[in-house]
Amino acid sequence: MSFDAIAPWYRALEWIAFGNDLQRCRIACLGEIESPRRVLIVGEGNGRFLCKLLRAYPNVEVDCLDASARMLRLAEERICAKARDDSARVHFLHDDATSWSAPERHYDLVVTHFVLDCFPEVQLAGIIEKLARAATDDASWLLADFCIPARGFAKLRARTWLAIMYKFFRVTAGIQATRLRDPSPFVQAQGFALAKQHQFKNGMLKSEAWRR
Ligand SMILES: C[S@@+](CC[C@H](N)C(=O)[O-])C[C@H]1O[C@@H](n2cnc3c(N)ncnc32)[C@H](O)[C@@H]1O
Repeated sequence: MSFDAIAPWYRALEWIAFGNDLQRCRIACLGEIESPRRVLIVGEGNGRFLCKLLRAYPNVEVDCLDASARMLRLAEERICAKARDDSARVHFLHDDATSWSAPERHYDLVVTHFVLDCFPEVQLAGIIEKLARAATDDASWLLADFCIPARGFAKLRARTWLAIMYKFFRVTAGIQATRLRDPSPFVQAQGFALAKQHQFKNGMLKSEAWRR
């Protein structure tokens, strides 16, 4: 699995497919959390959320973990271009979340935006458990992802889009997941409760804030 090949095109592809909706979704719950001190962002990608987080919380320290070296470089370049003074507060970690040794009870905010959908069902519970162990007892968790509306045309449209996207990312990035699995029950099982949810694109996108 590697997003290196599509990293340079990711922003353009996102714009063509979703306009600004994914970014709206990423930042929708930023105001719902207590001011964080130590943040873990898993699979940040090209740094658009990271920029907003640093701007919103000037004292925050961020560990930004991503398996793609090119994505990390793009994120670093974006921070240097838009918020050079903030770059000292970010540690870029090039590693795979499945094998990364996470510190225990360290982060008061965990962020997983459009990344949990890359993991196959058999890995999802384990990865969420690992990230939850790295979070403090009073941590928040921001999660943005796709979802499938319950019925009607919106359900059909989401299913069609997701089938296309899974095929695309399986071919271009080699992700192992074949279908969307709702991470909510696994996050809940780790002692988090849903504090806020915003939906976009007729329920196909969700932005959630969870709290322990
Ligand atoms: C679909 S992109 C999402 C990027 C961004 N968070 C967003 O909101 O668009 C998935 C990102 O997660 C990273 N990723 C996927 N699986 C990973 C893993 N097992 N460990 C670390 N990063 C991973 C990819 O390299 C990529 O940057």
